[in-house]
Amino acid sequence: MESRDFDPGRDADAMCRIWREIGWLEDKKSHRESLSLYLEACRTRVCEVHGEAEIAVSTLPGTMRVLDQELPLSVVAGVYAGRVGRQQGHATTLTAECVARDAVEGAAVSTLGIFDSGFYDRLGFGLAPLGRSATIDPRSLKVPRATRPPLRFGLDDAEALHACHLARRPIHGQVKISDARRIRYEMNFNEEAFVLGYRDGSDDAISHFIALSPDGKGEHGPYLVWIISWSTREQFLELLGVLKSLGDQVHGFRIQDQQGISMQDLVDRPFTWYRVTRDSPFQKRTLALSSMQNRICDLPRCVEAVSLPGADLAFNLQLSDPIADHLPGDSAWRGVGGDWIVRFDATSSARPGRDDDLPTLEADVGAFTRLWLGGQPAGNLSISANLRGPAELIDALDRRYLLPTPRIDDNY
Ligand SMILES: CC(C)(COP(=O)(O)OP(=O)(O)OC[C@H]1O[C@@H](n2cnc3c(N)ncnc32)[C@H](O)[C@@H]1OP(=O)(O)O)[C@@H](O)C(=O)NCCC(=O)NCCS
Repeated sequence: MESRDFDPGRDADAMCRIWREIGWLEDKKSHRESLSLYLEACRTRVCEVHGEAEIAVSTLPGTMRVLDQELPLSVVAGVYAGRVGRQQGHATTLTAECVARDAVEGAAVSTLGIFDSGFYDRLGFGLAPLGRSATIDPRSLKVPRATRPPLRFGLDDAEALHACHLARRPIHGQVKISDARRIRYEMNFNEEAFVLGYRDGSDDAISHFIALSPDGKGEHGPYLVWIISWSTREQFLELLGVLKSLGDQVHGFRIQDQQGISMQDLVDRPFTWYRVTRDSPFQKRTLALSSMQNRICDLPRCVEAVSLPGADLAFNLQLSDPIADHLPGDSAWRGVGGDWIVRFDATSSARPGRDDDLPTLEADVGAFTRLWLGGQPAGNLSISANLRGPAELIDALDRRYLLPTPRIDDNY
């Protein structure tokens, strides 16, 4: 089926209809405006059914931090099909096409948020490590209440909030979305959302902030923390102090483990809170799920980014890439499947070929992406994912391919 670029003049109504049909949009002004902003920010391809746009894929440019490098990234921000566009393979094919286009244009990695496991595995995406999300009573935080009042930020501050978000504390696996309109459409989408923070940066720049939305109705929360940006320990604790200062009224907020820092460290008597709030709408608990998937699009570039002095690892990599099955025969990029010789050391490399003196690792690109990005050892992946190799090689990888657990500290 033919695809084409989204055309605002022609497709705007169809997009509203699709988003309403899938439940992402209510028919109200703020939601329609947010969708327009989203479509302005994203690059969107559509497929038609009965002469109208019915299936679409939207991507945003960004970077993924791998150790101390930022790799060019394609963020698949949305895959969506209206009610008459389903189950005909169009969404899968269109996603493959957009990943291929962005890879040709330089994306080394592609990333997306999933509706469930399995669907995007068919395009070579592998699960990110588990992300933890905790529901916490502000009063239980082991931090002092904020000693100075925060500032309120609104839509007019979107650019400054975006700049602050880009400058947040760097961590391995971090995803940065480059377009400032992304913060704008998210703020606009949720009328109840509010943003509190401080301007301690040079020239009065926003230095740290927290964006919250009431999760459901009612005056007592729980609130959802949908973005939190900070660079130093003091800033992070101050933002938690702001939450604590709301604690006389709001009895819960949901927050992802910040950059891998365990929120359990910052809660007083977490087990007591868990026991006494069990089966309550304010239940205090931690949920661990992997809701992001990534895939390598440029293997040499991705391997080169991992400098591991002393790792001394070399192997053949027999890589399969299922995305090729969903791309036209004349696609300029057909994935990264094939035979590679991979070395990890102070200078790492991947080049096409095979060396009969080296052991061979067999993997699909999703499983290899999980290994490459870290946090998921080869030995574990050889049990639960599509990755196989001689025991000595798996053991060497487990002992010497040591990376921090990657943390994708953003939602998309
Ligand atoms: C996601 C969405 C676009 C998929 O649309 P679709 O029309 O079903 O997609 P396709 O026709 O390309 O793919 C259907 C195939 O995927 C398979 N599939 C669906 N979910 C799957 C899963 N979790 N694991 C494995 N396969 C899965 C189906 O079984 C079907 O396989 P088949 O063709 O071999 O029978 C559609 O469900 C949608 O718009 N959902 C709402 C928006 C959303 O959640 N988007 C994703 C998050 S960004």
